[in-house]
Amino acid sequence: MTKRKGIILAGGAGTRLFPITMGLSKQLLPVYDKPMIYYPLSVLMLTGIREIAIITTPQDQDQFRRLLGEGGQWGLSFTYIAQPSPDGLAQAYLLAEEFLNGAPSAMVLGDNIFFGHDLPRRLAEADAQPRGGTVFGYRVADPERYGVVDFGPDGTPRAIVEKPEVAPSPYAVTGLYFLDGTAPERARGVRPSARGELEITTLLEMYLAEGLLSVQQMGRGYAWLDTGTHGSLLDAGNFVRTLSERQGQQVGSPEEIAFAKGWITPEELAERARMFAKNSYGAYLERLLQGKH
Ligand code: G1P
Repeated sequence: MTKRKGIILAGGAGTRLFPITMGLSKQLLPVYDKPMIYYPLSVLMLTGIREIAIITTPQDQDQFRRLLGEGGQWGLSFTYIAQPSPDGLAQAYLLAEEFLNGAPSAMVLGDNIFFGHDLPRRLAEADAQPRGGTVFGYRVADPERYGVVDFGPDGTPRAIVEKPEVAPSPYAVTGLYFLDGTAPERARGVRPSARGELEITTLLEMYLAEGLLSVQQMGRGYAWLDTGTHGSLLDAGNFVRTLSERQGQQVGSPEEIAFAKGWITPEELAERARMFAKNSYGAYLERLLQGKH
């Protein structure tokens, strides 16, 4: 199988977080001590993905470049792609078609934060599927805000409904999509929904109709955090703070993952640690370097 490539979708106007996002892309906002995009980026890195396309609005692209560069600091390679208007998640596959060049992909939404003990194993399992797609269902109290899984009487998924008025189940589909190399070709067949978007759920239903979509449960031992409202953004920051201060371990540190995977040398990690020497993130990287963990 061709090596899986990554996509981070960080477009959108972020209108629900106005006025904050009038001057700054949502995915650059802080979630406690790091920019939001670090967390979904870490998920792709934990999957072992090193070639990543970052899709942003044209006007925000410079800021993402300033923050993330070309990826070399983490042993990664970034390709920047502009999404001129936010026409839906499935559009990402059309925009990234050339970048993917037939490879399977893992797309993560730039505002989705995942945390869980077994996450690396679950990611490895999804990565190992050569054909079809894998998505994750997560129980939430407010499923109508998401794409929702409709299960048939035998418990197998029979539909995925985008923002239903009445949710057929409490299981939302998270913003992490492992799809095979046919995704761009299939995305060309997606027609705009009533709200005028190329819905990811329509693309997923194409896979589902052919028996090619695996919906994996992400159980209660995982955190899938929302950052879509002012309150939930603050909650996500507090979650990261609570966990990292209690454990003395980082959540969503690209430096830590790159170093653990051998993608960067101790010298390269030291350089990053020096950049952040004035705060606890830098001290943390310094400790990693000393092997004090
Ligand atoms: C999007 C998708 C939805 C998915 C959600 C996950 O919704 O359309 O199916 O459940 O992301 O975050 P949005 O947040 O763009 O409204």
